[in-house]
Amino acid sequence: MDTHVAILAAGKGTRMKSAQPKVLHRAGGVPLIDHVLEGAGALQPRSTVVVIGHQADVLKSALSRRPNLSFVVQEPQLGTAHALLQTEPVLGNARGTLVLLSGDVPLLAPETLKTLVDRHTRQGASATVVTAVVENPHGYGRIVRVGEQIARIVEDKDATPAERQIREINSGIYAFALEGLFDAVRSIAADNAQREYYLPDLVSIYRQKGLIVESVTVANADEIRGINSRSELAAVNRLLREKKNAELMAAGVTIEDPATTYIDAGVTVGADTVIHPFVFLEGTTTIGSGCDIHSGTRIVDSAIADRVVVLNHCVINSSKVGSGASVGPFAHFRNGVDVREGAHVGNFVEMKKTVLGAGSKAGHLAYLGDADIGAKVNIGAGTITCNYDGVTKNKTTIEDGAFIGSDTQLVAPVTIGKGAYVGSGATIREDVPAG
Ligand code: UD1
Ligand code: CA
Repeated sequence: MDTHVAILAAGKGTRMKSAQPKVLHRAGGVPLIDHVLEGAGALQPRSTVVVIGHQADVLKSALSRRPNLSFVVQEPQLGTAHALLQTEPVLGNARGTLVLLSGDVPLLAPETLKTLVDRHTRQGASATVVTAVVENPHGYGRIVRVGEQIARIVEDKDATPAERQIREINSGIYAFALEGLFDAVRSIAADNAQREYYLPDLVSIYRQKGLIVESVTVANADEIRGINSRSELAAVNRLLREKKNAELMAAGVTIEDPATTYIDAGVTVGADTVIHPFVFLEGTTTIGSGCDIHSGTRIVDSAIADRVVVLNHCVINSSKVGSGASVGPFAHFRNGVDVREGAHVGNFVEMKKTVLGAGSKAGHLAYLGDADIGAKVNIGAGTITCNYDGVTKNKTTIEDGAFIGSDTQLVAPVTIGKGAYVGSGATIREDVPAG
């Protein structure tokens, strides 16, 4: 049977107090909605539609590179039932199961979604609700059962004091049989505390018609955490970090202090690498095995090979470091840096769009930009590639085995030949021949 997915993301996210749409706030280094789309992907849906409204254009352009997504706009936003109704033009003729997800619930495990669809179809249910039993149900819709059966869902704001005691909550995640769904949603009224069309009201409507309403209760209530505020965002970020750190440690990475180690979900780290406290590994970064990454270092979208030592307080962005190389302390790779095998970059060296060949050294205080530096080159302290003449960026080439004395300015475009020797304090404006 076909599975379709709809994701609700039209709400304003008032409690975030943000100029940005709520679902674009980041957890684990990626927007909340990316987590939701990832989970939905596990169901291999026939179609995925996102309901947008508040700041629709911003959201649409943020998701424009995702294939096979369609969008519907909900304007104004009159509640979750009204939001679902907007998908009728794209789903009206679809058959099978609709899985409804919330853009602000990022931790749902793909296995839970599979269980949801399995249970729903096996029981021949018209609706299946994902629920959880939590310590503090405040703010969530409560699951009201009669015997074992779900009878209805009551929102926190509409609940009686007795109903507020119920600790089983609605996750806002559902599976619905598409057959008859939109007609039923249309019959939902807005006679409640918020004057909104509540999708959870569908449960009592179906039950009164004698249709089957099922539930899946998650064992780990963290999975269904919804993000409504900045502190909930921080809490989810912490959970994602703990999960990532635990996975890496289980795979043989030493993390000296998980509480102060920030590794995005998409990062990979090889076994026997040691990560010291206060390290940030972000985006698509990959770290090899047997590396040592010291405190205060931040590595973004970069590839670090095996047995690399990165000393304290380095910033490495969109760059590559070859095996056995050493970097830092206090080195800054702005972007496009390629430090090859066994090379060494020392303190207060800034690099940009530069290759530093195998076994080459730039030990202290240098700016190397737009440079192609060969193997076994020595860059003296205080060397500057003067890559910008005020109009264009120019290239510096330093061939294998050259020695650049301290305090040299290399005025690009310029080439230093193989094995050439430049004495200290030189300003080089013309090519230096090999030898
Ligand atoms: C909702 C549920 C509640 C559940 C909780 C779980 C309703 C009425 N209540 O409450 O039972 O416990 O989720 O997190 O559904 N949205 C729209 N258009 C709208 C309104 C909301 O697209 O008109 C989207 C929001 O962007 C959000 C999602 O729907 O992604 C949930 O809306 P939200 O206002 O956060 O609902 P809750 O009050 O959290
Ligand atoms: Ca919510």
